[in-house]
Amino acid sequence: MTSQEHADHTRQAEITALRRQLGSRVTILGHHYQRDEVIVHADHRGDSLELSRLAAEATSPYIVFCGVYFMAETAAVLCQPDQVVVQPVREALCPMARMVDRPTLSEAWDQLAAMWDGDLLPITYQNATAEVKAFVGEHGGAVCTSSNAGALFRWALERKSHLLFVPDQHLGTNTALAMGIPLGRIGKWTLDMADDPSPLRDKQVVVWPGFCYVHAVMSPDDVRSARERYPSAQVIVHPECRKEVVQLADSSGSTAAIIKWVNAAQAGATFVIGTEVHLVRRLAQEHPDKTIVPLRDQQCEAMSRTTSEALRAALESIVAGRPEHVVTLDAETIAGARLALERMLEAH
Ligand code: 13P
Ligand code: SF4
Repeated sequence: MTSQEHADHTRQAEITALRRQLGSRVTILGHHYQRDEVIVHADHRGDSLELSRLAAEATSPYIVFCGVYFMAETAAVLCQPDQVVVQPVREALCPMARMVDRPTLSEAWDQLAAMWDGDLLPITYQNATAEVKAFVGEHGGAVCTSSNAGALFRWALERKSHLLFVPDQHLGTNTALAMGIPLGRIGKWTLDMADDPSPLRDKQVVVWPGFCYVHAVMSPDDVRSARERYPSAQVIVHPECRKEVVQLADSSGSTAAIIKWVNAAQAGATFVIGTEVHLVRRLAQEHPDKTIVPLRDQQCEAMSRTTSEALRAALESIVAGRPEHVVTLDAETIAGARLALERMLEAH
Protein backbone atom coordinates (compact mmCIF):
# COMPACT_ATOMS: atom_id res chain seq x y z
CA MET A 1 0.00 0.00 0.00
CA THR A 2 1.40 3.44 -0.93
CA SER A 3 1.36 6.18 1.70
CA GLN A 4 -1.43 7.93 -0.24
CA GLU A 5 -3.56 4.75 -0.23
CA HIS A 6 -2.90 4.36 3.48
CA ALA A 7 -4.02 7.95 4.16
CA ASP A 8 -7.18 7.45 2.05
CA HIS A 9 -7.97 4.22 3.87
CA THR A 10 -7.47 5.84 7.28
CA ARG A 11 -9.74 8.76 6.34
CA GLN A 12 -12.51 6.44 5.15
CA ALA A 13 -12.30 4.53 8.45
CA GLU A 14 -12.45 7.81 10.39
CA ILE A 15 -15.58 8.89 8.52
CA THR A 16 -17.22 5.53 9.23
CA ALA A 17 -16.35 5.88 12.94
CA LEU A 18 -17.69 9.47 13.12
CA ARG A 19 -20.85 8.38 11.29
CA ARG A 20 -21.35 5.56 13.80
CA GLN A 21 -20.74 7.91 16.72
CA LEU A 22 -23.42 10.31 15.42
CA GLY A 23 -25.95 7.48 14.87
CA SER A 24 -29.48 8.73 14.33
CA ARG A 25 -28.42 12.35 14.94
CA VAL A 26 -27.33 12.69 11.33
CA THR A 27 -28.64 11.84 7.84
CA ILE A 28 -26.10 12.01 5.03
CA LEU A 29 -27.68 12.71 1.63
CA GLY A 30 -25.63 12.41 -1.57
CA HIS A 31 -26.31 13.31 -5.19
CA HIS A 32 -25.39 10.75 -7.88
CA TYR A 33 -22.65 13.05 -9.27
CA GLN A 34 -20.65 12.94 -6.03
CA ARG A 35 -17.20 11.33 -5.91
CA ASP A 36 -17.12 7.63 -4.96
CA GLU A 37 -15.10 8.45 -1.81
CA VAL A 38 -18.05 10.57 -0.63
CA ILE A 39 -21.13 8.76 -1.97
CA VAL A 40 -20.13 5.52 -0.20
CA HIS A 41 -20.93 7.27 3.08
CA ALA A 42 -24.38 8.55 2.06
CA ASP A 43 -27.36 7.08 3.92
CA HIS A 44 -29.39 7.87 0.81
CA ARG A 45 -28.39 8.66 -2.76
CA GLY A 46 -30.74 10.33 -5.18
CA ASP A 47 -31.52 12.66 -8.01
CA SER A 48 -32.57 16.14 -7.16
CA LEU A 49 -36.27 15.25 -6.68
CA GLU A 50 -35.57 12.21 -4.49
CA LEU A 51 -33.17 14.23 -2.34
CA SER A 52 -35.82 16.93 -1.83
CA ARG A 53 -38.29 14.32 -0.59
CA LEU A 54 -35.67 12.69 1.62
CA ALA A 55 -34.77 16.05 3.18
CA ALA A 56 -38.45 16.76 3.86
CA GLU A 57 -38.85 13.34 5.52
CA ALA A 58 -35.58 13.24 7.51
CA THR A 59 -36.06 13.23 11.28
CA SER A 60 -32.43 13.55 12.41
CA PRO A 61 -31.34 16.87 13.98
CA TYR A 62 -28.57 17.21 11.35
CA ILE A 63 -28.67 16.68 7.59
CA VAL A 64 -25.28 16.62 5.87
CA PHE A 65 -25.89 17.41 2.22
CA CYS A 66 -23.26 16.22 -0.27
CA GLY A 67 -24.18 17.96 -3.49
CA VAL A 68 -24.29 21.55 -4.67
CA TYR A 69 -25.51 24.58 -2.78
CA PHE A 70 -28.96 24.96 -4.38
CA MET A 71 -29.74 21.37 -3.30
CA ALA A 72 -28.61 22.03 0.28
CA GLU A 73 -30.74 25.19 0.29
CA THR A 74 -33.76 23.13 -0.82
CA ALA A 75 -33.11 20.73 2.06
CA ALA A 76 -32.96 23.71 4.45
CA VAL A 77 -36.30 25.01 3.11
CA LEU A 78 -38.08 21.65 3.35
CA CYS A 79 -36.75 20.35 6.66
CA GLN A 80 -38.16 21.31 10.07
CA PRO A 81 -37.07 24.65 11.60
CA ASP A 82 -35.12 22.91 14.37
CA GLN A 83 -33.12 20.73 11.95
CA VAL A 84 -29.69 21.89 10.78
CA VAL A 85 -28.43 21.41 7.21
CA VAL A 86 -24.66 21.28 6.79
CA GLN A 87 -22.98 21.44 3.39
CA PRO A 88 -19.39 20.17 3.66
CA VAL A 89 -18.09 22.65 1.06
CA ARG A 90 -19.78 26.01 0.87
CA GLU A 91 -18.14 26.85 -2.49
CA ALA A 92 -19.84 23.93 -4.27
CA LEU A 93 -21.92 26.29 -6.40
CA CYS A 94 -23.67 25.21 -9.60
CA PRO A 95 -22.85 27.84 -12.27
CA MET A 96 -26.25 27.42 -13.93
CA ALA A 97 -28.04 28.27 -10.66
CA ARG A 98 -26.22 31.62 -10.74
CA MET A 99 -27.42 32.48 -14.26
CA VAL A 100 -30.67 33.91 -12.91
CA ASP A 101 -31.07 36.32 -10.02
CA ARG A 102 -34.18 37.73 -8.42
CA PRO A 103 -33.90 41.38 -9.66
CA THR A 104 -33.34 40.37 -13.30
CA LEU A 105 -36.11 37.78 -13.11
CA SER A 106 -38.44 40.34 -11.55
CA GLU A 107 -37.77 42.78 -14.42
CA ALA A 108 -38.49 40.11 -17.05
CA TRP A 109 -41.59 39.02 -15.16
CA ASP A 110 -43.01 42.56 -15.05
CA GLN A 111 -42.56 42.98 -18.81
CA LEU A 112 -44.11 39.63 -19.74
CA ALA A 113 -46.96 39.93 -17.22
CA ALA A 114 -47.82 43.38 -18.61
CA MET A 115 -47.75 42.08 -22.21
CA TRP A 116 -50.01 39.09 -21.42
CA ASP A 117 -52.26 40.78 -18.82
CA GLY A 118 -50.96 38.50 -16.09
CA ASP A 119 -51.80 35.33 -18.03
CA LEU A 120 -48.57 33.47 -17.21
CA LEU A 121 -46.97 31.36 -14.49
CA PRO A 122 -43.30 30.98 -13.55
CA ILE A 123 -41.62 27.60 -13.18
CA THR A 124 -38.08 27.34 -11.90
CA TYR A 125 -35.77 24.40 -12.31
CA GLN A 126 -34.55 23.14 -8.95
CA ASN A 127 -31.11 24.37 -10.10
CA ALA A 128 -31.71 27.95 -8.92
CA THR A 129 -31.12 29.89 -5.72
CA ALA A 130 -33.64 29.90 -2.88
CA GLU A 131 -34.37 33.58 -3.59
CA VAL A 132 -35.38 32.73 -7.17
CA LYS A 133 -37.53 29.87 -5.86
CA ALA A 134 -39.10 32.35 -3.43
CA PHE A 135 -39.94 34.76 -6.27
CA VAL A 136 -41.56 31.90 -8.19
CA GLY A 137 -43.52 30.75 -5.12
CA GLU A 138 -44.75 34.29 -4.43
CA HIS A 139 -45.99 34.57 -8.04
CA GLY A 140 -48.07 31.38 -8.01
CA GLY A 141 -45.46 29.12 -9.62
CA ALA A 142 -43.60 25.94 -8.75
CA VAL A 143 -40.21 24.26 -8.82
CA CYS A 144 -39.51 21.29 -11.11
CA THR A 145 -36.63 18.89 -11.54
CA SER A 146 -35.49 16.98 -14.59
CA SER A 147 -37.66 14.04 -13.53
CA ASN A 148 -40.99 15.91 -13.27
CA ALA A 149 -40.58 18.90 -15.63
CA GLY A 150 -43.29 17.59 -18.01
CA ALA A 151 -45.81 17.21 -15.18
CA LEU A 152 -45.07 20.71 -13.85
CA PHE A 153 -45.27 22.29 -17.32
CA ARG A 154 -48.72 20.70 -17.75
CA TRP A 155 -49.71 21.88 -14.25
CA ALA A 156 -48.76 25.47 -15.19
CA LEU A 157 -50.39 25.45 -18.64
CA GLU A 158 -53.65 24.13 -17.18
CA ARG A 159 -53.79 27.30 -15.09
CA LYS A 160 -52.41 29.98 -17.43
CA SER A 161 -51.74 30.30 -21.17
CA HIS A 162 -48.04 31.18 -20.88
CA LEU A 163 -45.11 29.86 -18.90
CA LEU A 164 -41.76 31.45 -18.02
CA PHE A 165 -39.11 28.84 -17.25
CA VAL A 166 -35.77 29.62 -15.56
CA PRO A 167 -32.85 29.11 -15.81
CA ASP A 168 -32.11 26.13 -18.13
CA GLN A 169 -33.00 26.90 -21.75
CA HIS A 170 -32.28 23.31 -22.76
CA LEU A 171 -34.42 21.52 -20.17
CA GLY A 172 -37.18 24.07 -20.87
CA THR A 173 -37.02 23.59 -24.63
CA ASN A 174 -36.74 19.79 -24.43
CA THR A 175 -39.69 19.60 -22.04
CA ALA A 176 -41.92 21.84 -24.17
CA LEU A 177 -41.03 19.91 -27.36
CA ALA A 178 -41.76 16.57 -25.64
CA MET A 179 -45.25 17.93 -24.77
CA GLY A 180 -45.89 18.65 -28.44
CA ILE A 181 -45.44 22.42 -28.23
CA PRO A 182 -43.93 23.45 -31.58
CA LEU A 183 -40.52 25.12 -31.67
CA GLY A 184 -42.11 28.28 -33.08
CA ARG A 185 -44.10 28.73 -29.82
CA ILE A 186 -40.99 28.45 -27.64
CA GLY A 187 -39.02 31.69 -27.18
CA LYS A 188 -35.88 32.68 -25.33
CA TRP A 189 -35.72 35.72 -23.04
CA THR A 190 -32.70 37.95 -23.70
CA LEU A 191 -31.59 40.93 -21.64
CA ASP A 192 -32.36 43.40 -24.46
CA MET A 193 -36.05 42.41 -24.08
CA ALA A 194 -36.20 44.22 -20.75
CA ASP A 195 -37.42 47.27 -22.71
CA ASP A 196 -39.42 45.50 -25.39
CA PRO A 197 -40.64 41.91 -24.90
CA SER A 198 -42.87 42.04 -28.04
CA PRO A 199 -40.73 39.50 -30.01
CA LEU A 200 -42.13 36.93 -27.51
CA ARG A 201 -45.79 37.92 -27.89
CA ASP A 202 -46.82 34.79 -29.86
CA LYS A 203 -44.85 32.34 -27.66
CA GLN A 204 -46.41 29.93 -25.21
CA VAL A 205 -43.24 28.97 -23.35
CA VAL A 206 -40.41 31.43 -22.67
CA VAL A 207 -37.10 29.99 -21.47
CA TRP A 208 -34.29 31.81 -19.69
CA PRO A 209 -30.87 31.82 -21.44
CA GLY A 210 -29.14 29.65 -18.77
CA PHE A 211 -27.38 26.35 -19.44
CA CYS A 212 -25.26 23.66 -17.80
CA TYR A 213 -21.70 23.70 -19.20
CA VAL A 214 -21.28 19.98 -18.39
CA HIS A 215 -24.15 18.93 -20.65
CA ALA A 216 -24.38 21.76 -23.18
CA VAL A 217 -21.02 20.88 -24.77
CA MET A 218 -22.26 17.41 -25.72
CA SER A 219 -22.90 17.58 -29.46
CA PRO A 220 -24.79 15.74 -32.20
CA ASP A 221 -21.35 14.70 -33.57
CA ASP A 222 -20.61 13.02 -30.22
CA VAL A 223 -23.80 10.95 -30.65
CA ARG A 224 -23.00 10.09 -34.28
CA SER A 225 -19.45 8.98 -33.52
CA ALA A 226 -20.62 6.97 -30.47
CA ARG A 227 -23.12 5.15 -32.70
CA GLU A 228 -20.34 4.34 -35.18
CA ARG A 229 -18.17 2.92 -32.39
CA TYR A 230 -21.00 1.12 -30.58
CA PRO A 231 -23.67 0.32 -33.20
CA SER A 232 -25.83 -1.70 -30.76
CA ALA A 233 -25.66 0.88 -27.96
CA GLN A 234 -28.58 2.68 -26.42
CA VAL A 235 -27.68 6.35 -26.17
CA ILE A 236 -29.25 7.95 -23.11
CA VAL A 237 -28.71 11.56 -22.14
CA HIS A 238 -29.70 14.02 -19.45
CA PRO A 239 -32.33 16.59 -20.58
CA GLU A 240 -29.89 19.43 -19.80
CA CYS A 241 -28.30 18.47 -23.16
CA ARG A 242 -29.16 20.53 -26.23
CA LYS A 243 -32.31 19.54 -28.13
CA GLU A 244 -30.27 18.33 -31.13
CA VAL A 245 -28.54 15.83 -28.83
CA VAL A 246 -31.75 14.76 -27.06
CA GLN A 247 -33.45 14.24 -30.43
CA LEU A 248 -30.63 11.95 -31.65
CA ALA A 249 -30.54 9.95 -28.39
CA ASP A 250 -32.74 6.90 -27.69
CA SER A 251 -33.98 8.35 -24.41
CA SER A 252 -33.38 11.19 -21.99
CA GLY A 253 -34.05 11.41 -18.28
CA SER A 254 -32.86 12.43 -14.84
CA THR A 255 -29.90 10.77 -13.13
CA ALA A 256 -32.31 8.42 -11.31
CA ALA A 257 -34.01 7.48 -14.62
CA ILE A 258 -30.62 6.77 -16.24
CA ILE A 259 -29.70 4.46 -13.34
CA LYS A 260 -33.06 2.67 -13.59
CA TRP A 261 -32.64 2.03 -17.34
CA VAL A 262 -29.16 0.60 -16.84
CA ASN A 263 -30.28 -1.59 -13.90
CA ALA A 264 -33.19 -2.98 -15.94
CA ALA A 265 -31.07 -3.94 -18.99
CA GLN A 266 -29.96 -7.49 -19.78
CA ALA A 267 -26.33 -8.58 -19.40
CA GLY A 268 -24.40 -7.75 -22.56
CA ALA A 269 -26.24 -4.46 -23.16
CA THR A 270 -24.26 -1.42 -24.24
CA PHE A 271 -24.98 2.14 -23.11
CA VAL A 272 -23.49 5.44 -24.16
CA ILE A 273 -24.49 7.92 -21.45
CA GLY A 274 -24.52 11.67 -21.81
CA THR A 275 -24.20 12.97 -18.29
CA GLU A 276 -21.64 13.79 -15.60
CA VAL A 277 -18.80 11.32 -15.71
CA HIS A 278 -18.65 10.25 -12.03
CA LEU A 279 -22.08 8.69 -12.41
CA VAL A 280 -21.19 7.04 -15.74
CA ARG A 281 -17.95 5.55 -14.35
CA ARG A 282 -19.79 4.28 -11.25
CA LEU A 283 -22.43 2.58 -13.39
CA ALA A 284 -19.66 0.94 -15.46
CA GLN A 285 -18.04 -0.39 -12.27
CA GLU A 286 -21.33 -1.64 -10.84
CA HIS A 287 -22.28 -3.43 -14.08
CA PRO A 288 -19.21 -5.35 -15.29
CA ASP A 289 -21.56 -7.48 -17.46
CA LYS A 290 -22.56 -4.41 -19.51
CA THR A 291 -20.58 -1.97 -21.62
CA ILE A 292 -21.14 1.54 -20.29
CA VAL A 293 -19.22 4.50 -21.68
CA PRO A 294 -19.60 8.29 -21.39
CA LEU A 295 -20.82 10.25 -24.39
CA ARG A 296 -18.15 12.75 -23.31
CA ASP A 297 -15.79 12.78 -20.35
CA GLN A 298 -17.43 15.75 -18.62
CA GLN A 299 -16.92 16.41 -14.92
CA CYS A 300 -18.98 18.83 -12.83
CA GLU A 301 -16.40 20.88 -10.99
CA ALA A 302 -18.90 22.05 -8.35
CA MET A 303 -19.99 18.50 -7.50
CA SER A 304 -16.35 17.33 -7.30
CA ARG A 305 -15.49 19.94 -4.69
CA THR A 306 -16.91 17.79 -1.92
CA THR A 307 -14.08 15.46 -0.98
CA SER A 308 -13.85 12.86 1.77
CA GLU A 309 -11.65 15.32 3.73
CA ALA A 310 -14.48 17.85 3.62
CA LEU A 311 -17.05 15.26 4.69
CA ARG A 312 -14.85 14.19 7.60
CA ALA A 313 -14.43 17.83 8.69
CA ALA A 314 -18.20 18.38 8.50
CA LEU A 315 -18.90 15.33 10.69
CA GLU A 316 -16.14 16.32 13.14
CA SER A 317 -17.68 19.77 13.49
CA ILE A 318 -21.05 18.22 14.37
CA VAL A 319 -19.48 15.81 16.89
CA ALA A 320 -17.71 18.80 18.46
CA GLY A 321 -21.06 20.59 18.79
CA ARG A 322 -19.96 23.44 16.48
CA PRO A 323 -21.37 22.53 13.04
CA GLU A 324 -19.64 24.38 10.20
CA HIS A 325 -21.08 25.53 6.87
CA VAL A 326 -24.64 25.55 8.17
CA VAL A 327 -27.12 26.62 5.47
CA THR A 328 -29.08 29.60 6.76
CA LEU A 329 -31.91 31.40 4.98
CA ASP A 330 -34.17 34.23 6.10
CA ALA A 331 -37.78 33.46 7.03
CA GLU A 332 -39.26 35.29 4.02
CA THR A 333 -37.11 33.36 1.52
CA ILE A 334 -37.97 30.08 3.23
CA ALA A 335 -41.71 30.85 3.10
CA GLY A 336 -41.71 31.75 -0.63
CA ALA A 337 -39.40 28.91 -1.69
CA ARG A 338 -41.41 26.43 0.38
CA LEU A 339 -44.58 27.39 -1.48
CA ALA A 340 -42.89 26.68 -4.83
CA LEU A 341 -41.35 23.42 -3.62
CA GLU A 342 -44.55 22.17 -1.97
CA ARG A 343 -46.47 22.82 -5.20
CA MET A 344 -43.93 20.59 -6.94
CA LEU A 345 -44.20 17.83 -4.35
CA GLU A 346 -48.02 17.97 -4.43
CA ALA A 347 -48.34 18.14 -8.24
CA HIS A 348 -46.06 15.18 -8.79
P1 13P B 1 -30.96 15.27 -11.51
O1 13P B 1 -32.19 15.85 -10.90
O2 13P B 1 -31.24 14.51 -12.77
O3 13P B 1 -30.19 14.47 -10.52
O4 13P B 1 -30.05 16.47 -12.02
C1 13P B 1 -29.43 17.40 -11.22
C2 13P B 1 -28.38 18.11 -11.94
O5 13P B 1 -27.82 19.06 -11.45
C3 13P B 1 -28.02 17.65 -13.26
O6 13P B 1 -26.99 18.43 -13.76
FE1 SF4 C 1 -24.96 22.48 -12.21
FE2 SF4 C 1 -24.44 21.20 -14.47
FE3 SF4 C 1 -23.10 20.59 -12.26
FE4 SF4 C 1 -25.69 19.91 -12.52
S1 SF4 C 1 -23.96 19.15 -13.71
S2 SF4 C 1 -24.73 20.81 -10.72
S3 SF4 C 1 -26.45 21.70 -13.66
S4 SF4 C 1 -23.04 22.54 -13.36
